Amino acid sequence: MSTIDVRVERKIVEADGIVSLELRAAGEAALPALAAGAHIDIHLPNGLVRPYSLCNAPGDSGRYVIAVLRDPDSRGGSVAIHETVQAGDVLSISMPKNNFPLVAARRSILIGGGIGITPLLSMAQTLHASGEPFELHYCARSESRTAFREQLLGSPFSGNVRFYFDDRGDGIDMTQVLGTPMQETHLYVCGPAGFIEFVRASAERLGWAHGNVHFEFFAAPEITGEQVNAAFEVEIASKSIRLTVPEDRSVADVLQDNGIDIPVSCSQGVCGTCLTRVLSGTPEHRDLYLTDEEKALNDQFLPCCSRAVSRVLVLDL
Ligand code: FES
Repeated sequence: MSTIDVRVERKIVEADGIVSLELRAAGEAALPALAAGAHIDIHLPNGLVRPYSLCNAPGDSGRYVIAVLRDPDSRGGSVAIHETVQAGDVLSISMPKNNFPLVAARRSILIGGGIGITPLLSMAQTLHASGEPFELHYCARSESRTAFREQLLGSPFSGNVRFYFDDRGDGIDMTQVLGTPMQETHLYVCGPAGFIEFVRASAERLGWAHGNVHFEFFAAPEITGEQVNAAFEVEIASKSIRLTVPEDRSVADVLQDNGIDIPVSCSQGVCGTCLTRVLSGTPEHRDLYLTDEEKALNDQFLPCCSRAVSRVLVLDL
């Protein structure tokens, strides 16, 4: 997988528990152009690889900006960025990837929850630059935890932005915001899993077409207490070998332990990087990437988080 070396030009505290990093090419090569909704995978000094949305304007060439919330439940990604990474450090990143692109629309509604503002910030700047109608609804716990608030208030599209703060009891009224769905209006939502589910359920209740609702999870929901891990086996079709996946390891971990490299990025079933074909057996899908229809086919799964219902899964590896 090709990577680019970037230097951390600036690290800025954007809000309580949120820092931004401005990344610039460390070598001669220019950074590839970005499109709104894109993310990069950052290879962190502790060996973890984590995806972060780009939040600068696409025309803002020569730099990438990401923002990271310090998550106390983090498995090491956000903590490493908050505590270890400093201005001047050189990091490896992937090429930008985009699972959350803008589509042609007469009007766009952007709804961000907390740190989920990052891809929407890039989208808002893109839509403003192209003169397309949009509104941005930004929900946060409090003003002090609202990254990029000053930037948004000072932007030429500040009139399109509305803030909602939990600590003021100022909740978003989904019926008012989503109103009557129109075929040419598209909705984009990003934030924690519960927030996305709330917006998606509201859109469904109000009659929005699935194809007009676009979302990107920031992190997978917690595994519930009802989901008990059991050991199972994976068979590697090209090698005719079987490997045991213990209850406390993921398929991706077991593959890696045995020298079978598959690309992994988020490790949470969110980004789709590790998507692998299943030749036989039944996966237990635990990801947020595949649609319900795709999951029902049981011919592919996300080995970073999903497991098996059947005793054996045969993988097209
Ligand atoms: S690595 Fe992101 S879905 Fe598996």
